[in-house]
Amino acid sequence: MVKVLIVYASDHGGTEKMAQAVAEGVKLVPECEAELKRADQATIQDLLSSDALLVGSPVHMGSIDWRIKKFIDTVCSGAWMQDKMIGKVGAVFASGAGYGNGGGGCELTMLALLNNIAELGMLIVPLPKNTPGYQAAGLQWGPYGRAHAEDLSPKGLSEEQLISSRNHGKNVATVAKALKGIQVFA
Ligand SMILES: Cc1cc2nc3c(=O)[nH]c(=O)nc-3n(C[C@H](O)[C@H](O)[C@H](O)COP(=O)(O)O)c2cc1C
Repeated sequence: MVKVLIVYASDHGGTEKMAQAVAEGVKLVPECEAELKRADQATIQDLLSSDALLVGSPVHMGSIDWRIKKFIDTVCSGAWMQDKMIGKVGAVFASGAGYGNGGGGCELTMLALLNNIAELGMLIVPLPKNTPGYQAAGLQWGPYGRAHAEDLSPKGLSEEQLISSRNHGKNVATVAKALKGIQVFA
């Protein structure tokens, strides 16, 4: 089996909903399984046993959530020290509120996460613009959600917004499956 680990943080359920949609997409690919973990529950063993890592964060003050940063600094760093994630597949997603369309920090949050994924030596899967759902909730870096209005009143993620998340999970699983067993870096 190909294991895709999905790590996320969420206060109001938006990022969690995206994570669940990503997991649904992973499971559409035969021989692929998804493991969902909150950032404070994910361990280095989860990383070592995975073939791909997807990290999802709420946008906080235009950047990543502190629990995700803690996961990166305290859990991912252990695998980074041992070069254990090199050549595995990595991808990201983010959930913001209503501040701008594709802006408001979703891009910066995903770019910050992708920087960490690159630091780990992972192979990044972007979100190609022909991916179903891209028009409603996609950036080239990954899918985004808009779960709250500008006054932070909850409006929830629409089904339309979750399509890109589902397809992102499917894309990541497809790539991880194709690369399983192949050592891309010496
Ligand atoms: C402390 C804090 C800072 C936030 N900063 C931003 C921001 O800079 N840009 C934005 O679009 N949303 C911002 N938000 C809104 C959240 O990103 C948004 O509500 C997100 O969907 C929450 O994800 P969750 O439902 O998984 O908790 C902020 C929320 C909090 C609590």
